[in-house]
Amino acid sequence: MASRRHLVATLLLLIGSVAAQNGIECPFPGGTENGGGVAECSLYTACLWKGSECVMQNNGDIGYTVAGDPQDTGRGFKVGLDLIDATKTLFGGDIPGLELEVIYHEDYHVQVKIRDAASARYEVPVPLTLPAEAGTLPLYTVEVAAAGQPFEMSISRAATGTKVFSTVGALVYENQFIQFTTQLPSTYLYGFGENTHSRLRHTFEPRNTWPIFARDQPVGTGFMNEYGHHPYYSVVEDDAGHTHSVLFFNSNAMEYSTFLLSDGSPALTLRTIGGIIDLHFFFGPTPEDVNMQYAAMIGTTELPPYWSLGFHLSRWGYKSTDHVREVRQRMKEAGIPQDVQVIDIDYMENSRDFTIGAGNWSDLPQLVEELHSDGLKVTLILDPAVVIDFDNYEPVVRGRDADAFIKWMTPSLVPGDQPAGTNDYMVGYVWPDNKTVFPDFLKPETQDWWAQEIALFHQMVPFDSLWIDMNEPSNFGTNLDKPSNYPDDLEPWSLKCPFNFLDSPPYPTKMTRVGFSRSGRISDRTLCMSGAQTNGNDSYLLYDTHSLYGWSESVATHKAMELLFPGKRQLVLSRSTFPGSAPYAIHWLGDNEALWDDLARSVIGLIEFNLFGMPMVGADICGFSGRPTQELCARWMQLGAFYPFSRNHNAKNSPDQDPAVHPQVAEISKDVLLLRYKYLPYLYTLLHDAHMGGSSVVRPLYNVFPRDVIARDVDDQFFWGTGIMVAPVIAAGLTERDVYFPEGLWYDLASGARVSSLAGLVNVAAPLEVLPVFVRGGTILPNQAPATTTQLSRENPFGLTIALDSAFSAEGALFWDDGEYDRVMTYTSTFTFANNTLTSVVTNGQDELVGLSFDNVAFYGYPSNPTAITVNGEALDPSTWAFEEAIGVLNVKIDVPLDVSLDIQITV
Ligand code: NOJ
Repeated sequence: MASRRHLVATLLLLIGSVAAQNGIECPFPGGTENGGGVAECSLYTACLWKGSECVMQNNGDIGYTVAGDPQDTGRGFKVGLDLIDATKTLFGGDIPGLELEVIYHEDYHVQVKIRDAASARYEVPVPLTLPAEAGTLPLYTVEVAAAGQPFEMSISRAATGTKVFSTVGALVYENQFIQFTTQLPSTYLYGFGENTHSRLRHTFEPRNTWPIFARDQPVGTGFMNEYGHHPYYSVVEDDAGHTHSVLFFNSNAMEYSTFLLSDGSPALTLRTIGGIIDLHFFFGPTPEDVNMQYAAMIGTTELPPYWSLGFHLSRWGYKSTDHVREVRQRMKEAGIPQDVQVIDIDYMENSRDFTIGAGNWSDLPQLVEELHSDGLKVTLILDPAVVIDFDNYEPVVRGRDADAFIKWMTPSLVPGDQPAGTNDYMVGYVWPDNKTVFPDFLKPETQDWWAQEIALFHQMVPFDSLWIDMNEPSNFGTNLDKPSNYPDDLEPWSLKCPFNFLDSPPYPTKMTRVGFSRSGRISDRTLCMSGAQTNGNDSYLLYDTHSLYGWSESVATHKAMELLFPGKRQLVLSRSTFPGSAPYAIHWLGDNEALWDDLARSVIGLIEFNLFGMPMVGADICGFSGRPTQELCARWMQLGAFYPFSRNHNAKNSPDQDPAVHPQVAEISKDVLLLRYKYLPYLYTLLHDAHMGGSSVVRPLYNVFPRDVIARDVDDQFFWGTGIMVAPVIAAGLTERDVYFPEGLWYDLASGARVSSLAGLVNVAAPLEVLPVFVRGGTILPNQAPATTTQLSRENPFGLTIALDSAFSAEGALFWDDGEYDRVMTYTSTFTFANNTLTSVVTNGQDELVGLSFDNVAFYGYPSNPTAITVNGEALDPSTWAFEEAIGVLNVKIDVPLDVSLDIQITV
């Protein structure tokens, strides 16, 4: 098998021919944006001043040669690479000998690792699911230059011959700097994060360089690294829509750069300052196949509990339990659906985890009970930083007993002013009124301690879910005189990082020059890189594991919740994420602003996190900081009603912005959230698919229509699955908008009226109270009569919205279960409508279905008033259906239990 596949061939490229046309930028530690002249260029012997720019020398002059013939490993092959010229370097520490290993996995999946041949380097400890055996009909071929040639590698799609990855220029592999460049088969490049991209599709001209490294960096414009670390991209290769994706499985500080080679072809440079090259390629061939293949490796999302699909209301700055009561009352009076009340750090005593604020918050447990009896669930926030008040704060004492905190990597780095009792822990400062230490969540003892604290706290307050914030991890004022919120009565102080190879790496990446980076150092607003973590067996440098912090806290918190609520599915909301977070946590896009641009960009963020395999995602509705206008908040509530994770959240010191504050916003919010609640069975079915098979929930248009080239640039519309298309209004003052409709038939979701045009742009009316949202012909959407909580809506009758395609047919499915427990026996029903007959296939009915039934079916795009309708063999009385000729909608009342198969025959 293996030999058939690894066509190790001399590439017919003459050495230097690609390099000569390369224009691969020589990276300067301070950035090349401001020129960087010939003098700076001459500092780097691997670079060359050419014309007016500093470029990498040609492959063959620098880089590696292929050391010999590839060795078959049974799962692929290995080949050595030798450094060509040790005198030519960027930052020194070039690894003399490398080993390239190609590992065949599923037919759609191949892995390429390039390691130091002589000694082990850091590799990401996040577990992946890999197959025990390789597939037998790979969708790809791998080529590596022949022995003695400069190293070049390409990976192609077997069916089309398209080179999806094709190295350009020299490989740089230094101890603290790795760089490689690949030509891309097209400019339809998507993904990479966490960054706020203003367009979904990447651009190549001028060159764009983005950093990736977990950072407490609010959303905004500019090339900034934000909360999570997702070095994952996908490319639509050709007109047929063939799509592949690539994970660069590396957690070190990195950057990616998109640009055009001198011959105009698109290219991508990846740089990292640690770890190894570990690439996973997925060959689809469709965009959605790629999503599923990626999720299968990193872990699919947990199926969130049903209640979490409801609306969440949050803010930072609730003043008291009574303030929460007042807002809840306002929501009820306005009839606005709400399932979850979120309480931010305000509830704590001096922002300390596992405490309840005296005074205004002392009856928090009672408030939680009240909300529970109102049918709501309660989410409480926790921060990782633990205050070091050893005399008065037991959690930190128990944590120290468990040796649960992150340490300096050597005792010699422990600062001279280390506070008493903090051993060799790294001490910082965040929200509490005193210095803090930070749990090492990789460590089993820490996980046990954390679970214990959560359990003890649950005995005090019966919360339902946890929100884990600040877990990049965030530390305030690192390297500055003092954090801006540091108590005035204390001597100014901050965590100061040493100037060593870890905290002052030779190439600190672009992140030190962007966003909030006040100290201009890699450790800005976080812990020092010279920290140590351990999983009990292996020790790690924080330099390497920094971006895994949010993932590891998600794992630990999820475990804690499982102990607390055995058998139940959990909801953990995490700010920082890494590939592999999805089984443990959901995500929101972080601190945005009450700006139209942030509303618009949230659509891109939703789509990107769905590419990353984290479908349960949303942004802070109405904006976190700033003050939304009523119009903005109304429009954002409309868009947010179609965020899988739908939460309105607000910053401290801003006025309340819950949807009930203003009557008009309240009315609009109520309507659109009722529409959401009506279609929650569809969303739930999609999330169940995502859980079982890794499919995405929010999809860009090109995902559903991969051959539609125009759809590839649409990023202000999105799908739920393949059935519902949302086209939010994303700018002020509009009462209409152009919507792009790919091929097919489209109907207004709420009314069922057909959109009066063929494929293309259609101007649709969108007065303030209207969110343009459509159903695609050919889709059957399960739904349920809405209510103001899911506890109530889950008891209501179901319905089917059947949107017909041009052949008058449609299909769909419904997944249902008790909504909270991990069950083996669950209910699925699939529906098909064709030849005027609706049939369904029910698999696995179970007790939760008792009392549930379908009471209506609505056909969109029905041609005429039927003469007869039978349901499961019985003729309906004509009074039970109504045909609205003007819009072609046929509504039929039925009464069929969910666990019985549904058979409807229509006679025209
Ligand atoms: C930062 C989070 O991003 C924000 O959502 C939260 O309100 C504040 N921390 C306070 O906890």
